[in-house]
Amino acid sequence: MKTRVFSGMQPTGNLHIGNYLGALKNWVRIQHDYECIFCIVDLHAVTLYQEPGELRAKIAEIAALYLAAGIDPQVCSIMVQSAVPAHAELAWMLTCVTPVGWLERMTQYKTKAAKQESVSDGLLQYPVLMAADILLYQAGIVPVGEDQAQHLELTRDVAQRFNSLYGDTFVVPGTSLPAVGARIMGLDDPTQKMSKSATGQNHAVALLDPPDKIRKTIMRATTDSSPGVDPETAGPGVLNLLAIYQAFSGDGDDEMKRHFAGMRYGELKKQVAEMVVTHLEPFQQRYRQIISDPGYLAAVLRDGAARVAPIANDTVRLVKQRMGLYT
Ligand code: TYM
Repeated sequence: MKTRVFSGMQPTGNLHIGNYLGALKNWVRIQHDYECIFCIVDLHAVTLYQEPGELRAKIAEIAALYLAAGIDPQVCSIMVQSAVPAHAELAWMLTCVTPVGWLERMTQYKTKAAKQESVSDGLLQYPVLMAADILLYQAGIVPVGEDQAQHLELTRDVAQRFNSLYGDTFVVPGTSLPAVGARIMGLDDPTQKMSKSATGQNHAVALLDPPDKIRKTIMRATTDSSPGVDPETAGPGVLNLLAIYQAFSGDGDDEMKRHFAGMRYGELKKQVAEMVVTHLEPFQQRYRQIISDPGYLAAVLRDGAARVAPIANDTVRLVKQRMGLYT
């Protein structure tokens, strides 16, 4: 039996090249090697307020982006989290074995909570719901960007704690990070991770940005005061541009060094911009086709949910038995 893979994205903000290079591109690469489930995690999205109409539209947009990137719905299951109630059900059971202290230590929780006047309980429970997503399908591999590594660590801790309290129940999953692109930084500030929620004009390249905007954002990227590229001593801004180029091109380290050594920053940015535009233009064409067919999208999501629900329900049944709950 093939190892199961589970991963997901929140239907919030605009998906950017960090999401693509850190996660989505990897999903496409491994989809034929494993039994893959790719989720649109709408229950996670509502841990912060979302305008309902916008959220609904974003769910379809993310599904279309998965497909445009090359996820094959014949091979993988693409599904929406709230379409399978077992996610929320297992999350409750896991909440009961998770110490609050583990959750309060989560970096993303601390960052997000600091920006809120009033913090919802859901924001604190966020990583438990994420653990439920993964453990529900007994996934062995979870391909994500580096910012999710701490949540994956917590998922393993929760699985091990449950297993030791109630007997072997869950597969303890491993994290899979891409070799290049696991942490794409903001183009306006390369000390901060590229983020969907950042507001700066030149912060991110969104997957659906028009080519002119992509070029403009990359040409304005923050670098440093050296005259040209020295791969050994380059600062974070230049390293980020090199990582973006390498993740799109698939070039090896030596090839990259030979190609860029001594190159002026203006030329470096131009080449990075062209590399990104060349990849995103056909992607955007596919996206426009897919999003214009809501019937097809709805069928993909319905099929995905129908395929995975029996696996999820089996796990919930097993967990209920283990815990002595009424079945
Ligand atoms: P989300 O929606 O914030 O991000 C989706 C994916 O994109 C990766 N990512 C990045 N990778 C590289 N550089 C960046 N700057 C960058 N920014 C984001 C993220 O690591 C992620 O892989 N909690 C998750 C969603 C989730 C999930 C799950 C993931 C819910 N349940 C179960 C895996 C398994 C999240 O907020 O991703």
